[in-house]
Amino acid sequence: MIKAVTGTKDILPSDIPRWIYLEKTVETVFSNFNYKEIRTPIFEETALFARGIGEETDIVGKEMYTFKDRSDSSLTLKPEMTAAVVRAYLEHSLGAQHSLVKLFYMSPMFRQERPQAGRFRQFHQFGAEAIGSKSPLLDVEMIQIAYEILKSLGLKNLTVKINSLGTSETRENYKNLLKKFLQDKKDKLSEDSRRRFETNILRIFDSKVESDQKIIKDAPKLVDHLDEESKADFEVVKNQLAKFEIPFENDPALVRGLDYYTKLTFEIDSGSVGAQTALCGGGRYDLLIETLGGKPTPATGFAAGIERILLACENEKSFTVSEPAIDIYLVRIDDELESFVSELAGKLRKENLSVDCDYLQRSVKAQMREANKLNAKYVLFIGGDEYKEGLLKLKNMSDSLEKILPLEKIHELISTIKK
Ligand code: HAM
Repeated sequence: MIKAVTGTKDILPSDIPRWIYLEKTVETVFSNFNYKEIRTPIFEETALFARGIGEETDIVGKEMYTFKDRSDSSLTLKPEMTAAVVRAYLEHSLGAQHSLVKLFYMSPMFRQERPQAGRFRQFHQFGAEAIGSKSPLLDVEMIQIAYEILKSLGLKNLTVKINSLGTSETRENYKNLLKKFLQDKKDKLSEDSRRRFETNILRIFDSKVESDQKIIKDAPKLVDHLDEESKADFEVVKNQLAKFEIPFENDPALVRGLDYYTKLTFEIDSGSVGAQTALCGGGRYDLLIETLGGKPTPATGFAAGIERILLACENEKSFTVSEPAIDIYLVRIDDELESFVSELAGKLRKENLSVDCDYLQRSVKAQMREANKLNAKYVLFIGGDEYKEGLLKLKNMSDSLEKILPLEKIHELISTIKK
């Protein structure tokens, strides 16, 4: 039997109510903050991500689903949205209509990572990109949105971590400083960190290897070497978060896995999801628009992993959704009424009721079992002596009260059900 590909997951009908609850919460919060939805294609030219995210990152280096199509173009299933949103922003000159463009999205993403709890190869993100302002208050807005969504989903065990990576010049100077510090300790680093020493030295902070952590903990910190503007912006972020009563921690090791960040970076972690703790991450990326061919334009954003959030919600039992139910199930008593029952179901559906009936010639008992399984609020019995007299029997399944109604008073029936 063919099974779903490793690292992918079916979202079954029984999972859907929780997904919808999350999606509605996300949409409400984004609408409160005046973000407009954007949907971009599932695949893009490979060059967009290579250039946007950075050749030396894990995503571009080893995780992308890249393939050649029949016309020999190199295409990639999107591993993240920021580069795709910026591409669309530039392609459609969205900045010409509004000088600050605030967008949100929900979409599947693809990364060939080693699958484990909370880490998939096809996963879903919601997120936001706000393009056109360098205000640190907009960075705060990102944290606020993410925090508010997670709180609205009832999550408690959350940690907001923030850091500043400074401008690109600050970072280049700092990288040299770090290189000097690590030069004579290089041989003691893990193989991965030795590679990162050459290719992307900041990512050594991401190493989970204990001996690496021991070495790196005494390294000079980027936050102590920030330029004046980044320092001032970072202070604004911290003060404003305090005003919003959002608790946060400074995490000097928060360098993030994508190359486009400048100044503020942040993550929100959950203590309820095992090893993959980051529910969301983001930050400012003031150089990306230029890198992708636009004029210099500051921007900030974040993205959150839906599967991970739902896992945290499940582990914390943070919200419950009501069992799916239908309004009415039509139980056919006499076999020859099959066509009449389906006709009546059609009429009731036109009244915006959720209606189902039997298509398997089942007995009355089996139809009742099905009505119970479907959580029908009402059951309508059609047939027997009542039907011959032009009557139908309606049963309220919550209190078992029954009501006899003349067939021609179908509107009375509809208003009873709609109450
Ligand atoms: P990211 O940190 O790569 O950032 O991903 C954001 C979130 O997506 C993570 O915190 C995690 O919850 C979820 N995620 C990532 N990879 C996986 C996976 N393999 N399985 C399940 N969930 C995953 C970005 O993608 C940036 N584009 C965020 C951003 C937007 N920065 C600025 N604007």
